[in-house]
Amino acid sequence: MNIQKVMVIGAGQMGSGIAQVHAMAGVDVILHDIKDEYVQRGITSISNHLARQVEKGRLTKAEKTEILERIEGSTDLANASEAELVIEAAVENIEVKSSIFAELDQITPKETILATNTSSLPITEIAAATNRPEKVIGMHFMNPVPVMKLVEIIRGLATADEVYEAIEELALRLNKTPVEVNDFPGFVSNRILMPMINEAIFTVYEGVAEPEAIDEVMKLGMNHPMGPLTLADFIGLDTCLYIMETLHEGFGDDKYRPCPLLRKYVKAGWLGKKSGRGFYKYS
Ligand code: NAI
Repeated sequence: MNIQKVMVIGAGQMGSGIAQVHAMAGVDVILHDIKDEYVQRGITSISNHLARQVEKGRLTKAEKTEILERIEGSTDLANASEAELVIEAAVENIEVKSSIFAELDQITPKETILATNTSSLPITEIAAATNRPEKVIGMHFMNPVPVMKLVEIIRGLATADEVYEAIEELALRLNKTPVEVNDFPGFVSNRILMPMINEAIFTVYEGVAEPEAIDEVMKLGMNHPMGPLTLADFIGLDTCLYIMETLHEGFGDDKYRPCPLLRKYVKAGWLGKKSGRGFYKYS
């Protein structure tokens, strides 16, 4: 199966990156969000990213124009009927995702593959909102999508082999490295990463050290390219909290309890880089 047209749902930091890498690989993209201003914000962020590539001499102006021409905006989910694959990258919330998938199941032809970029939610549960669980799969990109090589591909309980193979082939076409994993809370990436971030937040909460010091220890001492609190701000503290809640509920083990300080920041609207404040301040 040679996928030529995709719809990306959610034009936020992940959705716009996912749209960009598809358009750069010659795939037509419909970028969908609930409001036109969100769609336009996503397209502007793609355009700015491509402009930086032109400045660096990695892309010509004509290529930039061609890439942008492959992306059309949408605020009507019915446009999904034109796509061979839908990749959902809306908020990390099971009710939101299940309702989007139930609607997509009604709108799209029965062959359409429905993928989710969820960081941690069960693919099998999202698939159960449809009548085609064999066509539902996790396609988990890393942030920032144009830079990071990994795509974690998650098989739900019923995902068909040919669906897995189509997504693996597409990931390779995007110049990414696919890795196959099974459907357990947090998959591999966030099951390992997020408890470390949560522990770093507990370290702030208990007054062991300041955020700068914690990040410095992990960068210089463990050779991490970015400290865990900088990374948390970059991912979005709301997304970090959703993932910890999924791990906590999914495994029922107290070791995954979200740090109260993380909850407090999210309640305050301190969501990290995207809101201008998290563990650090951003202008
Ligand atoms: P974001 O907050 O930047 O963007 C989410 C977008 O989805 C917003 O533009 C919002 O308007 C839109 N949206 C919300 N409900 C919608 C609906 N019903 N229909 C259409 N659009 C809707 O969030 P971000 O960071 O892009 O995350 C999106 C997904 O990707 C989440 O599931 C998250 O867990 C996952 N993810 C996030 C990563 C990160 O580092 N932030 C990394 C990998 C996956």
